[in-house]
Amino acid sequence: MDYEAYRADSRRRWEAAARGWEDRREAVRRAAAPVAQWLVDAAQIEPGATVVEVACGLGDVGLLAAERVGAGGRVILTDGAPPMVEAAERAIAASGLAHVEAQAMEAEWLDLDAATVDGIVSRWGYMLVADPEAALREARRVLRPGGRIALAAWASQDQNPWIGVLQEQLVARGLASVPAPGTPGMFALADHAHLADLLGAAGFMDVRIEPVPFVWEAPDADAWWEHMRTTSISLGEAVAGLRPADHYALRDAVDAGYAPYTQPDGSLRLPACALGATAEA
Ligand SMILES: C[S@@+](CC[C@H](N)C(=O)[O-])C[C@H]1O[C@@H](n2cnc3c(N)ncnc32)[C@H](O)[C@@H]1O
Repeated sequence: MDYEAYRADSRRRWEAAARGWEDRREAVRRAAAPVAQWLVDAAQIEPGATVVEVACGLGDVGLLAAERVGAGGRVILTDGAPPMVEAAERAIAASGLAHVEAQAMEAEWLDLDAATVDGIVSRWGYMLVADPEAALREARRVLRPGGRIALAAWASQDQNPWIGVLQEQLVARGLASVPAPGTPGMFALADHAHLADLLGAAGFMDVRIEPVPFVWEAPDADAWWEHMRTTSISLGEAVAGLRPADHYALRDAVDAGYAPYTQPDGSLRLPACALGATAEA
């Protein structure tokens, strides 16, 4: 893999996705709240602590941690895509919390001094970085000894039909490809043993990994499609160039795939499963 080309392309795509994520912020915050809660609990964040959120997006997890650390603590939201950082700044302003700040920072190169941080939280970031072991080493470098990291990746695609159904259709139609093994992607850290090995190789101890299930809900199939079109980079790119007939065919196939999760009133309840990992520096 060409690491530099991947980093530049990934940053460009996330910069472009920031607006859609901000539009859908409340829906993501609400549905994924169990994962945010798991992370803040697993990181054992205490009042007065300094906490960094890596690959923060809009900062949902860090803002939850900010409630835990209180006004005597400090929370730094970091993301590699400047438009995400700007959106996180707007979220901070809306929260009214004075002890939270946002900074543009790559997960592989945290612009922070060694051993200055009590806890690191990160939801759905580490599986996207070019070199996750390097990023985890960097996390360990900035954590003080005894500090904890808590991160969420995604469990396997078959445990995540909310995106698996869509991904299968995109791949079947040649509109998306499955990342090669060992390269970044949504499910790159779905294997417990691999994730545990990476954390161990980065020098972490007391590694614990467990599934964190939750449910995406949508009032109907149209609302869910719109949500996914707005937040999923691969779907957004795939449908942008589609002829109307192909667009309709894709929609029909995806809706059929979601049938087992469609309720009698037409609403959707789509199972999702994150993989939560926590370890001590
Ligand atoms: C799937 S989103 C998750 C956002 C947020 N953590 C959440 O759970 O709502 C992935 C985020 O990771 C960021 N990201 C991707 N690669 C990164 C990297 N190498 N360094 C820092 N941030 C990165 C993206 O800009 C994006 O905001």
